Amino acid sequence: MKIAVVSEIDPAEPRVAATPETVKKFRALGAEVTVARGAGLGSGIPDAEFEAAGAIVGENVSKDADVVLKVRRPAQAELAAYKKGALVVAIMDPFGNDAALKQMADAGIIAFAMELMPRISRAQSMDVLSSQANLAGYRAVIDASAEYGRALPMMMTAAGTVPAARIFVMGVGVAGLQAIATARRLGGIVTATDVRPAVKEQVQSLGAKFIAVEDDEFKQAETAAGYAKEMSKEYQAKQAALVAEHIKKQDIVITTALIPGRPAPRLVSKEMVASMRPGSVIVDLAVERGGNVEGARAGEVAIVGGVKIVGFLNVPGRLAASASALYAKNLYTFLETMIDKKEKKLAINWDDEIVKGTALTRDGAVIHPNFKPKTAA
Ligand code: NAI
Repeated sequence: MKIAVVSEIDPAEPRVAATPETVKKFRALGAEVTVARGAGLGSGIPDAEFEAAGAIVGENVSKDADVVLKVRRPAQAELAAYKKGALVVAIMDPFGNDAALKQMADAGIIAFAMELMPRISRAQSMDVLSSQANLAGYRAVIDASAEYGRALPMMMTAAGTVPAARIFVMGVGVAGLQAIATARRLGGIVTATDVRPAVKEQVQSLGAKFIAVEDDEFKQAETAAGYAKEMSKEYQAKQAALVAEHIKKQDIVITTALIPGRPAPRLVSKEMVASMRPGSVIVDLAVERGGNVEGARAGEVAIVGGVKIVGFLNVPGRLAASASALYAKNLYTFLETMIDKKEKKLAINWDDEIVKGTALTRDGAVIHPNFKPKTAA
């Protein structure tokens, strides 16, 4: 059983899919592990540390690998280097990328999309959305404070008092909860909003105030999987009015709102941005999925009427060492379930819900029910 850890070809991706710790664990399961030269450098892991953990470091590592571990979906050029039938595990970004999925099917690989992992308790340690979103939520507050020209905590000094920053978190999933916790630790006065009613208690337990339109629609606004639904036009209008009133008194706004498989909901209009005091900061963590904030620009800090709108891409990658460590562990715990420990070889149980939930391609076809091409009528 050969496992390859390849380099990311996207220069904007500093993360890596293994750490010396996970290499050691794979070795203990009887796998031979090869790591592409320099693959860990963006995450502060030198080749020598991978070698010390038992990996072979070299070039063209994926050539005869049974399993390829990656961060991002392989591009066409990379697919050519993989063996037919190889398992390729990565964050595949499958929504709206049918052509890329077909390329992977045509290459004959078995592709697994880590972000489709079912959110069941057994799979919590494999949940890359959570492991990466948690870090993104933390980093959003750090980035906001770096862009903000004032201190976050209240400071009473001989030269006068610095007031505490007012920080508003919109969307309280994994990223939002960590943003609230981080903003509180830094001494901010924190409020938060979400469309899922279950969130209210979580917000309050972190010492923040919950702000939302709590009507009948709100009380029903959670899917069985625990995700947000797209809200009606009427609800969105009521929500916007409430937010407009609140946002003009805020110093920092962090938006994290997402709906799986849909563009991010627009929560902050340009009028709301204009209502904020110059020097205020908005961090839009949803910018890669269309953005929650009007005027946010992917990969940039846009300045609109003196308000900074931060649209950094790949925010978990801004904490590459931590993000890689958690991501690598997510991959390990997932792959471990597919390895026969006695025989020391791959043994995939295709009936397992975590396999069914994440497998995108197999035997030359896209097999995931959500992404299978529709058969012509
Ligand atoms: P997400 O990244 O899909 O969305 C972020 C947040 O935005 C969500 O809280 C969502 O309700 C909110 N949102 C969507 N539209 C909005 C709008 N118009 N206005 C305001 N907020 C809006 O969510 P994430 O972080 O993936 O978490 C979703 C749920 O899954 C949470 O309940 C989380 O606790 C749960 N979860 C369960 C796990 C498990 O059981 N293994 C693991 C991780 C999360």
